[in-house]
Amino acid sequence: MANNTKGRRDFMGMALGGFTALGGIGALYAMKRSWDPLPSVKAAGFTTVDLSGAQENVLNVEKWRGKPIFVLKKSKDMKADDRDVVIGSDRFHVSIGLCTHLGCIPAYIGDEHKFKCACHGGEFDASGHQIFGPPPSPLEVPPFKIDGTKLVLGEAGPEYKKMLDAGLTV
Ligand code: FES
Repeated sequence: MANNTKGRRDFMGMALGGFTALGGIGALYAMKRSWDPLPSVKAAGFTTVDLSGAQENVLNVEKWRGKPIFVLKKSKDMKADDRDVVIGSDRFHVSIGLCTHLGCIPAYIGDEHKFKCACHGGEFDASGHQIFGPPPSPLEVPPFKIDGTKLVLGEAGPEYKKMLDAGLTV
């Protein structure tokens, strides 16, 4: 009898533990969703990001091959640049979000239209050009292809090859 009670208590404990774990996973999933404002699909080295829902001057950070990828829809008052990814009448800054000095992840300051790197004070403008501090070169543009309103990261489309040929990224 005593054994039975203990057995039931163990079972209840395990069941409750299971519910708690499930709740934790649910909360993590909800958090992950809120970090992922643009729908993206990852498959075999490619990340496809649908840019149709992007908001101006709001930085989206995608992940491609373990690296952060900055996707910033430019507002009309932001300077156009040869490194912009142009989709219809919209312009996007797309870059690998690693400082070209020593690889920290810069933060985007929307009010100033600048990326600032906390490690050694480096700054980049909204087109990824270094404008202050130790970074020796612009933020790199990852290989990309435009597919309608989608951006395929990891595939070198004609727009990316043009940037490479023009020496606008490495
Ligand atoms: S790593 Fe960014 S300024 Fe040094």
